[in-house]
Amino acid sequence: MRTANVLLDRDFTIGQTDKRLFGAFIEHLGRCVYGGIYEPGHPTADAKGFRQDVMALVRELAPTIMRYPGGNFVSGYNWEDGVGPVEDRPARLDYAWFSTEPNTFGTNEFIDWCKASGIEPMLAVNLGTRGPQDAGYFIEYCNHPGGTHFSDLRREHGWEEPHGVKFWCLGNEMDGPWQTCARTADEYGRVAQEAAKIMRWVDKSIELAACGSSGRKMPTFGFWEDRVLEHTFNEVEWISLHTYLNNYAKDTPAFLASPDLMDNFIEEVVAIADAVAARKRSSKRIMLSFDEWNVWYRTRRPREARIKPGWPVAPPILEEIYNMQDALAFGGAVISLLNHADRVRCACLAQLVNVIAPIMTETGGPAWRQTIFYPFAHFANFGHGEVLRTRVICDSYEADYFDPAGPDDEYRTKVTGVQYLKLSAVHDGEGGLTLFALNRDLEGPMQMDVEARSFGGFVLETATTMHDADLDAVNSKEAPERIAPRALDGVTVAGSRISAVLPAASWTVIRLKAA
Ligand code: AHR
Repeated sequence: MRTANVLLDRDFTIGQTDKRLFGAFIEHLGRCVYGGIYEPGHPTADAKGFRQDVMALVRELAPTIMRYPGGNFVSGYNWEDGVGPVEDRPARLDYAWFSTEPNTFGTNEFIDWCKASGIEPMLAVNLGTRGPQDAGYFIEYCNHPGGTHFSDLRREHGWEEPHGVKFWCLGNEMDGPWQTCARTADEYGRVAQEAAKIMRWVDKSIELAACGSSGRKMPTFGFWEDRVLEHTFNEVEWISLHTYLNNYAKDTPAFLASPDLMDNFIEEVVAIADAVAARKRSSKRIMLSFDEWNVWYRTRRPREARIKPGWPVAPPILEEIYNMQDALAFGGAVISLLNHADRVRCACLAQLVNVIAPIMTETGGPAWRQTIFYPFAHFANFGHGEVLRTRVICDSYEADYFDPAGPDDEYRTKVTGVQYLKLSAVHDGEGGLTLFALNRDLEGPMQMDVEARSFGGFVLETATTMHDADLDAVNSKEAPERIAPRALDGVTVAGSRISAVLPAASWTVIRLKAA
């Protein structure tokens, strides 16, 4: 059996997790909104059309902030189309997903849904087909108390009090050729800078995120962040990152190694942001908003291949069905985010319901948890606290990972030094500790021994693990609990030493409280 020895110390910390690290994302895309969170006429829908079966699962999942309305969708969106009397709202062609957007759900409904769910809203402005002036109008509509055209319009529409949205994204993936009105780094940087100025003039309490490059494998990556921050450094608090892990190559070790590339990506963006700060002789530190992350590949295809005749409303697209190994890679991503809690202060799982999502629904039918639901729920429920530095000694391997698709050499990334144990440890501030552990060894269990120095001693609260002999097993309407965490037996605690045998290819969460 492989072994892993872990040493950590209560006083050696990475950083406190920010509440916004545990966010998710709702886009007008497929059945995320319509048939997902919102379905008037559904047996569980409330008077506003919000599905209560979905909301119950969202509460269990526990996201803290929700990004809206896109994604690619936002780059062609007129926010005015989604406010006011529903019968007067226009249906529009959505260029991002080749669908018809009925606009029966819009900003005010989203804010109400967030309030009902206890989640902070995050809004994105359209810097594709629109620009700074419109961004100013939108924030006036949302956040200005009253006495002006757009703030009074909100009040007329029935929302007397301002929405008070604090976190705003300046567009989405603006370097992606697939984006409606993509821009060069300088074009985007200037537009984002001017939009940010107006938006902050309207409401100085807001925080703003500039778009980073759409991914680490984009040819624009690096140069893009540098140029965009050169323009926007004084205007923004955040830069965004996006990553979708894939198993196109059907190579499980490489797939499970891929979250380590998120570590590299984060550290590279930090380095670039801090280099811009150095160039400007500034002590300001730009924080990272990892506002799209997930596993996504089966339903990922070029724009043209997505065209469905007839511009349907809420077509069932991007309905990725997640299996056991997806949950493992996903758990690895959770650990990468936690272990960079000092600079990744915000992150959004893309997305929430039906569309590459932890929650699946049948329109008119039930809702259930996908495999990835569980590692996210563990993260969002138990990840709050001080992330500790961990020294992990165990065997490692290397892998060839293909992103976005293989097997062309230009897409190959060699991942080296992949430790079989990927681990994060979070201290709750009251002597309690949670260990998040991914055993990437497919062949056998792993003996994990942890010495948690400077802790007085623990008692075991819970130990759960997810694993299955069939790494392709999935949950479904018929078998909604096929994959779920089960109790992990045999965890021993002696003072501040914890020992556990982690099953092969498993995601394990061990929660300890002060003795
Ligand atoms: O989350 C799905 C899509 O992925 C988003 O709309 C876009 O920002 C990204 O390319």
